[in-house]
Order: sequence, then structure tokens, then C-alpha cells
Amino acid sequence: MLTNEQLNEYKEKGYLVLPELFSEQEMDELKQAANQIVEDFDPESTRSIFSTEDHDKTRNDYFLSSGDKVRCFFEEGAFDVDGHLAQDKSLSINKIGHALHRLHPDFERFSHSDKIQMVAKDLGLEKPQIHQSMYIFKQPKIGGVVRWHQDATYFLTDPISVITYWFAIEDATIENGCLQVQSSGPGMPLKEQFLRFPDDSTELKVLHDIPWPADDSAMPLEVRKGTLVVFNGLLPHYSAPNLSSKSRHAYTLHVTCGSTAYAKENWIQSPPSLL
Ligand code: FE2
Repeated sequence: MLTNEQLNEYKEKGYLVLPELFSEQEMDELKQAANQIVEDFDPESTRSIFSTEDHDKTRNDYFLSSGDKVRCFFEEGAFDVDGHLAQDKSLSINKIGHALHRLHPDFERFSHSDKIQMVAKDLGLEKPQIHQSMYIFKQPKIGGVVRWHQDATYFLTDPISVITYWFAIEDATIENGCLQVQSSGPGMPLKEQFLRFPDDSTELKVLHDIPWPADDSAMPLEVRKGTLVVFNGLLPHYSAPNLSSKSRHAYTLHVTCGSTAYAKENWIQSPPSLL
């Protein structure tokens, strides 16, 4: 499906933009499915979790045990000083994760569809395995920043193989916090590794003490709804807060090569789903 030109571009830059590879209707179906999950979600069910004394630990547990579940996560700025939602529930969720591709029929079907398989094959991913899926809302006004990082930090294999699929469910612009990537070269050495220990403590270990690219040197990927961006696990990327009045929904998949060794310290250890 990908041309030699596209493959060379991916090799050179570490990412590839496939404009409007999916139809508006396909994106709308995923959006509707995500909105339904939020509709069915009772914020009170997690308020108790987040209001316990050991806030950081319970928050961490809620996250770490979500690798094989479909869970809603709030935006940092979703609550007022009294701990109540400051806006409607539908505008308060940061993301849904992390096993939509296995547990939700619409996301499962889409995540295993032909175009996605073909891209993996063309990019040379043998026995591709999906480890994680996320639906990201990047809500108007409160959609938070995602700091510079490399995705191999969270999905380390030997050799490094993770590829991220980033689907624009809505138009992404600089104003609503589009993806921004390193503008030169296909990536850099893996700077950090996220480790999960048997006692469920975690550490972000620095492997290479090198600086992230400057924010103003990044390449903003302004893309239309239906566009797929694929990028390798060593490509530094970030996204600025969404201060606009438009949301910036996206769906992501993290896929590794099944013939590499998946690190036992990676935070998600539930069985991957074959692409
Ligand atoms: Fe990322």
C-alpha cells in the first residue's frame, strides 16, 4: 500500500502522514463509540478512588491495572476546588484506555482492519502485536499538555520495534494541540525507560542524559480528520495544551514486532492482540 517514496520518508524522518486514509464516517463511528463509553461511565465510581488519603497510590493503581480494561481517565483540570466536575462529564475525560482494541467491538474491528495491517506489513513489522489502545479527547480549554517523550519508553522490545498509529478522529491544528514531532532525523537514542516493578512501584529511568528538542523547533502535524500518522518508537513528540474551544479527538495504537523480546519491565504485560 505504501509507495517507495513514502517508505523512504518514514525511514528518513521517523514518521509518515497518510492524509485522510479513513473516511469521515469511519472516524465518526469511533467518536460515537467513545462518547457512549463516557455516557455509560459513572464519575462517582472513581471519585471514591481519587478521594482516598493516599491519592497518588490509588491513582497509580487505577492506571497500572487498566492495561486489560476499558477505563476513563479525567483531565487534570476537570475538577473545581471543591472536587466537583467543573464542566459536563463529556467534556472532562482526558482519555479512555487501554484495551479498547480487545474489549470493544467497534474499536476491535477498526484496530484489526486491512489498511492497518497493510501499513504494518509495509513498514516491516513481522507478527505485529497490539499492546495498547487509547482514545484521547484533548478537551477544549482543559486538554492538558503531553510532554516530550518517545513511545519506546513505554513499549520496549529488543531490538526496538514499537510503531505508533495515531488516527485523527477530528481535525488537528496548532490551536487545538496537534501532535508535534522532532523535525530533524528519524529519532534519537532512547532517553528514558518506564519500569514497572513486581510490587507495582514504577520508575522513569534516564538511559541517555540528552536534552529534548526545543519546543519551537518541533514540526506541528496539522492534519485533517481521517488522517493516519505512523511513527517509530524513537521519535520524540509532544503536544501543547488545547486552549481553543475545539476538541481534538484522536485514537492511538501501539504495535510491536512479535519476533522481538518484549521487556518484562514494561507496564502492560497483558497478552497482546495479534494484528
Ligand atoms: Fe506518545
